Amino acid sequence: MIVLKTERELQIMREACKISAKALQLVGNAVEPGVTTAELDALAEKFIRSCGAIPNFKNYEGYPATACISINNEVIHGIPSNKRKICAGDIVSVDLGAKFGGYHGDNAATFACGDISEEAKRLMEVTKQSLYEGIAAALPGSRIGDISYAVQRYVEERGFSVVRDFVGHGIGTEMHEPPEVPNFGTPGRGIRLLPGMTIAIEPMVNAGKHGVAVQPDGWTVLTRDGSLSAHFEHTIVITRDGPKIMTEA
Ligand code: MF3
Ligand code: CO
Repeated sequence: MIVLKTERELQIMREACKISAKALQLVGNAVEPGVTTAELDALAEKFIRSCGAIPNFKNYEGYPATACISINNEVIHGIPSNKRKICAGDIVSVDLGAKFGGYHGDNAATFACGDISEEAKRLMEVTKQSLYEGIAAALPGSRIGDISYAVQRYVEERGFSVVRDFVGHGIGTEMHEPPEVPNFGTPGRGIRLLPGMTIAIEPMVNAGKHGVAVQPDGWTVLTRDGSLSAHFEHTIVITRDGPKIMTEA
């Protein structure tokens, strides 16, 4: 069931989203050559807890950390490790969230470590903009398929591909609520968007083909063709005046 949030609920959820956004910014600013993904994860966890919030990924279906940190050809769900150092030239996708006052925030971004290739820069820009295209399509009265199509069209017109095996989602008192928000689809299809709906839109974009595969660790998702991948996500609310981003620092 899709739960429309009241203004009182949205006020609390905005706090959870703000904490999530600040934690993401903190980690992004700490991305540099030599830092381990476990160090970045610890930064995020410490910050979220210092706000009186809970890292909502931790223990979610057994996930062992606060953040997912996925490098280069890793798409999503990379598990932080003290053996994994970030190198100059890497692109680093960080996905994390916080639960505060009973409500969830969820956001992601891909960061560059030092100088990166032109292809990597373009991939990051196109993925980020595809998120904003999706957000702009999240108008009251429109449908989920309108968001999906906006993301897909923007990405594919630029020669990249959207991951199909993972999707965005409703969010609220649960991190994952209905509806699913795919990054590919048909305009005019799917459920109608209504004021008070809160959703996480999260395009995962591959420089090569859209196929992905899960590693033997059971979590890390890689591109099948070894190409680079980027990921941007915001939690938003649909209002009478249009979409509003909630995960802003
Ligand atoms: N944040 C992811 C999503 O955007 C969920 C991560 S799964 C977890 O939906 F297990 F790592 F939490
Ligand atoms: Co999400």
